[in-house]
Amino acid sequence: MFPIEELVVGMAQSQLLKSANKTLIFEAKNMKIAIIGKGHVGSALGSGLSKAGHDTKFGHRDPKEPVADAAKWGEVIILAVPYENAGDAREAIKPYVDGKVVIDVMNAVGENAELAISCATSTAEETQKKLPKAKVVKAFNTVFASNQSTGKVDGEQLTAFIAGNDLKAKQTVAHLTRDIGFDPVDCGPLKAARYLEAMGILIINLAYTYRMGNKMGYKLLKA
Ligand SMILES: NC(=O)c1ccc[n+]([C@@H]2O[C@H](COP(=O)([O-])OP(=O)(O)OC[C@H]3O[C@@H](n4cnc5c(N)ncnc54)[C@H](OP(=O)(O)O)[C@@H]3O)[C@@H](O)[C@H]2O)c1
Repeated sequence: MFPIEELVVGMAQSQLLKSANKTLIFEAKNMKIAIIGKGHVGSALGSGLSKAGHDTKFGHRDPKEPVADAAKWGEVIILAVPYENAGDAREAIKPYVDGKVVIDVMNAVGENAELAISCATSTAEETQKKLPKAKVVKAFNTVFASNQSTGKVDGEQLTAFIAGNDLKAKQTVAHLTRDIGFDPVDCGPLKAARYLEAMGILIINLAYTYRMGNKMGYKLLKA
């Protein structure tokens, strides 16, 4: 069990935004993390979280690793499937997510690496709508899978941008990102996923359309 009961909760959103980055971190160890999707992202996050001492279990369409088994088992569920498959994956985990943290890692990448979703919403908000009793948090989508197991590029720490409506859920995710090696930053309510997903599309374009390669990532500089 992780001691989230000890955390400050129930803050108004404005207070949360003001203080979130001071209250984001708390101690929690050995969480059970279900990872839905075992591709580039799922594998990288699984590796980083295992190295940090967490227990992980994968769920995907391989009958040897059923999604339902992983989702039922996990305290935290990471949704790391392609956007086109999000509907099926959300349906498959729906019976098991009530009260749990669901981390939405997805980017809606369309043709020519354009944003395939309206800027008036985000994959994370769509996930929250489909899973109303889950505590959905957006995280990791601005980081290339190749950098997700360490949170670093060439030894330099990357920022893990986090958005969500539930402070405790964001604290949990901040804790996990920090365990991997990232510097977590609270970006506010889940609505901010719209901006994080646009950042995801931007960095994909920098890497592949403009050929800068994926050995790079976002770092927020703070005085
Ligand atoms: N690659 C990156 O650098 C990166 C970075 C940040 C965010 N993202 C986002 O993260 C997500 C995953 O990207 P990826 O690169 O890891 O993709 P990927 O390598 O293609 O892996 C996708 C995984 O999802 C599984 N999957 C597909 N449909 C599923 C379903 N209905 N239920 C359960 N599992 C399903 C696939 O396994 P089976 O076929 O065996 O089911 C596969 O393991 C995408 O939304 C992407 O935009 C990617």
